[in-house]
Amino acid sequence: MSRTAVIAGNWKMHGTVAQTRELAAALVERLGSAAKDRQVVIAPPFTSLQAAAEAVRGSAIEIGAQNVHWEASGAFTGEIAAAMLVEAGCRWVIVGHSERRQRFGETDADVARRARAALAAGLRTIICLGETLGERDGGLTLDVVRRQARAALLDLGAAAIRNVCIAYEPVWAIGTGRAATPEQAEEVHGKLREVVAEVAGGNEAERVRILYGGSVKPENVDSLMAQPDIDGALVGGASLDAESFARIVEFGA
Ligand code: PGA
Repeated sequence: MSRTAVIAGNWKMHGTVAQTRELAAALVERLGSAAKDRQVVIAPPFTSLQAAAEAVRGSAIEIGAQNVHWEASGAFTGEIAAAMLVEAGCRWVIVGHSERRQRFGETDADVARRARAALAAGLRTIICLGETLGERDGGLTLDVVRRQARAALLDLGAAAIRNVCIAYEPVWAIGTGRAATPEQAEEVHGKLREVVAEVAGGNEAERVRILYGGSVKPENVDSLMAQPDIDGALVGGASLDAESFARIVEFGA
């Protein structure tokens, strides 16, 4: 089966509203009618979501948020609900990024709750996971990603999993300039597809998009995307520059 590729830019905590408008406009100009065989997502900070949504309106670029809370409303200072993201113009959300897990103490259970709420609101959900350097060096990579993937997917049901993308992001590759090799990533992606098959069946496993993230750049995207189980990229640093993100979107050209 051929899976439509997803290239998503995770802007992290970068960009004022004015800077967002500028970068989004540059991307629309460069990619506005991007090829039909790939989906393009940008995920700016919460405060810029609405401006980004306005800037990309009518183009092929879609908007995602970087996190979502599992409750619909209530006393959750600093959190944002899924319906609020939809209202701001989001079609997508990222959950379980390693920066959330490592620096803000998010657990597998939190990530599962966030994913469930996002999917219930109709958001396409990018569930991030990946091992630390210590876990890789200890030979634990496949166990760790399997645990993380099962925790996030087990309660979702096959219908909801249809709106999930998994992003394999080895922690040691994020922001370090040291991407996983295509072979290292492919090994993990193959494992993750097996986990989806266990949890949701073979059809969903064939269908699910598994993105790679961690120092994706114009220089390495083609070799990563050439792997059979790599269906897209989650891009941090290189997504903040219109030309380099556009080149990544145009992988394989
Ligand atoms: P990077 O970040 O591309 O800057 O390594 C990727 C990510 O954190 O999603």
